Amino acid sequence: MGDVTSSMPVMVASENGRRGMLAAMALLREGGSALDAVELACRIVEDDPDDHSVGYSGLPNVLGEVELDASIMEGTTLRAGAVAAIQGYGRAITLARRVMEETPHVLVVARGAERLAAELGETPQEQRTEEALRRWRARFTERELTPGDAEPLRSVARALTRPINLQDKLHKAGRVDTLGTVNFIARDRRGALASAVSTSGLGWKYPGRVGDSPLIGAGNYCDDRYGAAACTGMGELAIRVATARSLVLYLKFGMSLAAAGREALRDLLTLDAPDGQYMNIVALTSAGEVAGFTTVPGKQYLYQRAEMDEPALADRLMVV
Ligand code: GLY
Repeated sequence: MGDVTSSMPVMVASENGRRGMLAAMALLREGGSALDAVELACRIVEDDPDDHSVGYSGLPNVLGEVELDASIMEGTTLRAGAVAAIQGYGRAITLARRVMEETPHVLVVARGAERLAAELGETPQEQRTEEALRRWRARFTERELTPGDAEPLRSVARALTRPINLQDKLHKAGRVDTLGTVNFIARDRRGALASAVSTSGLGWKYPGRVGDSPLIGAGNYCDDRYGAAACTGMGELAIRVATARSLVLYLKFGMSLAAAGREALRDLLTLDAPDGQYMNIVALTSAGEVAGFTTVPGKQYLYQRAEMDEPALADRLMVV
């Protein structure tokens, strides 16, 4: 775990957050707010065509549609905003923030979120890329496509005219290799905290499936008085035990950060999760202490303090 430097900006993120963190830390150094920092950081990852787990170019659902989920939370006020299962718009984190700041709601989903985005003047943008669609076709035809190869497309079309059987397509195979999300938590010069989570969810998911990322308390929670936590991994697990809120609650009850993270992941042990399903947490306390936790070996997280030129990788504490 990193050491504590009070009243200086600090950020923690999932491993895929490097570029976002660099830009956001520059903003924090100039006196920017934690809320602006986590939104900016998330947008950079959402716009990255090479990250197939978040935003633009995210892996599609079983029907070949990209559905995005995101949430943002402000630790000073406990205000939060989120969107889920939104299609045809990018920068889900900005929409989540607009839900928080411009509506009386916390979570707006699917067609309602798309309608809200249009009413707020957001520009529709195709989120599917050729690469993401190529992977989707390959997944359902079990072989790579060649340019102009029509037969696999017919196979996909045939598959899609049958009822979707998730037992066959996802759970029985235990496939979570298409899962990814980005987490950012920041503390600004004023000591305010904010947290942001964005994802395209589980690749090949059932249409309308929503994970933990847009659910405040499950995949994201932030409270200036204690700290903040955000999750990556199999959202169905974090939803059932409210992982992010639990970690913050354990801090409230006086546990150290290491103990709070350990306890939040131990809560998952009661779930009898299928093999291969995992959970990761990143956390930042109000005092500026950072940590990452995981249920699987070899996972890392990123953190950066104002005095550091670049984000640094650190090992997550593994809890089994
Ligand atoms: N943690 C992301 C998801 O389950 O969708």
